[in-house]
Amino acid sequence: MRELGVYAEVRACDTPAAALAGARGIIISGGPASVLEAGSPTVDPAIFRTGQAVLGICYGQQLMAHLLGGEVRPGERGEYGLATLELDHTCDPFFAGMAGAQQIWMSHRDSVRSLPPGFSVVGRTDTCPVAAIAAPERNLYGVQFHPEVVHTARGQEYLSNFVFRVCGCEKDWDPRHRVPLIEQEIRDAAAGRSVFFFVSGGVDSTVAFTLCQRALGAERVRGVYVDTGLMREGETEFVRRMPGIAVEHAHEQFLSALAGVTDPEQKRHIIGEEFVRVQERIIEARHILEEQWILGQGTIYPDTIESGGTANAAVIKTHHNRVAGIQKLIESGRIVEPLKSLYKDEVREVGRELGLPSELLDRHPFPGPGLAIRCLCSEFDAPVRHTEDGWLIPVNSVGVQGDSRSYAPVLAIGALDHARATALINRLTTVNRVVTPLETRAPLEDLQVRACGLTAERLERLRRADAAVRRLSHESGYDRRVWQFPVILIPLGTAEAPDSVVLRPVDSVDGMTAQSVGMEESLRRAISTAVLEVEGIAGVFYDLTHKPPGTIEWE
Ligand code: XMP
Repeated sequence: MRELGVYAEVRACDTPAAALAGARGIIISGGPASVLEAGSPTVDPAIFRTGQAVLGICYGQQLMAHLLGGEVRPGERGEYGLATLELDHTCDPFFAGMAGAQQIWMSHRDSVRSLPPGFSVVGRTDTCPVAAIAAPERNLYGVQFHPEVVHTARGQEYLSNFVFRVCGCEKDWDPRHRVPLIEQEIRDAAAGRSVFFFVSGGVDSTVAFTLCQRALGAERVRGVYVDTGLMREGETEFVRRMPGIAVEHAHEQFLSALAGVTDPEQKRHIIGEEFVRVQERIIEARHILEEQWILGQGTIYPDTIESGGTANAAVIKTHHNRVAGIQKLIESGRIVEPLKSLYKDEVREVGRELGLPSELLDRHPFPGPGLAIRCLCSEFDAPVRHTEDGWLIPVNSVGVQGDSRSYAPVLAIGALDHARATALINRLTTVNRVVTPLETRAPLEDLQVRACGLTAERLERLRRADAAVRRLSHESGYDRRVWQFPVILIPLGTAEAPDSVVLRPVDSVDGMTAQSVGMEESLRRAISTAVLEVEGIAGVFYDLTHKPPGTIEWE
């Protein structure tokens, strides 16, 4: 809706009709439940009687039919994927200009069998006789398909018809126009006090920080960036150039806490603990708990609606900010979150409006624990083993199987062949991942995994390899074609060159699932050559694993 230029909010499904009275229209989304199961999500049926426009999508259509006296039947096999919709000619504004055959995308098990009074069927597919319904006098519409996904060819047109023709909205939402308003909100929240930020160097905290500086003046906004020694090359220098931000050096603290630790979960835990210590120290030293300060945070809209409702937002924040001082500020309302109503792409728009550089705004996501989760460690020395499927590399990489994480060795195969990698992973229960060598300094069977932890030397090696990859990926435009491109260091090599590098370019929408993607040969060659020039690197590998079963990071 917002992409169409119409302001929309996500509300919990049990929001009472009275609380939605100001809305021009309501969309009931799809979802995995069945209206036939006890306790499945429902809406206040009064929303259908207010005269407001309502559009039910998938589960939303079924729920509308169910609550208004129609019948929903369980499907036996369901319908998933592309289908052809036959849409009748009608004069309903929702279906205006849409009649005829068209490609749609379906994903449902149950379906509507009989309609509530006042409704008629407007569209159908071969397997779904009730694929689009309307009760125009009551301003109610439903579709079984998903207009919001790109595979529904004319999906945007349906959504556009709904907001403009049915609801009568105007195209008046542009996040860039919000800047003066957000600045006023910041001034109101600050009420004469100053704002303190922990900045990460990422998009959200940087845009939030810059907005506060514009609203309050640079002298009333302060930020600290914690240099953990686990960041990429050039990161600290980049942040240091921003006015009002001080860098807190904590290399030694993090590295000595991590010395000798090889277990991935323990690494994460230690980094979290040390972060809390540093933040507490800074809050104390800068007297942030005194009345003249409030806390600024780069929370964005999806952070507040995670887990299905705004009611859960507090729980999520508690989880993220375990520092007692921060908790105290939040609980007493001394907090300003200028981006909390914006989506990520809107935050970028606002950032552009503020004149922030695209090298900041368009950067790939980078995990909080930094290079520590891209630098694998090993408790043991162990040789590479040849098997009938390939070479088994005895480093434990993390994967997702079902809802839990698994740790398993990696299989190297002789070709950059995603289909073969996927087939192998499905067949072999003993590996999490499949990689292929691009170039190695010695035959694969002569390489060896050796016992090692997170040392300054290994982190520097990774940092240099990562910088070389990023430079080439940027120069070739490849970085704009992939969603994220982690570079991983594994303790596989020779006595002279003890580590290897794995390239992990992926395509994704939200990081929850991801596809390993290909790369043109010339770039693969250039990257291999550059990485092998880094001191201590014996080989360059390419990760062929999708998520699931392999996570994006190797940990
Ligand atoms: P995985 O490895 O779980 O990663 O497939 C999914 C996405 O999340 C990012 N990630 C993190 N981001 N703090 C973050 O801010 C973290 O601790 C963290 N761990 C993973 C990862 O880079 C990928 O984009």
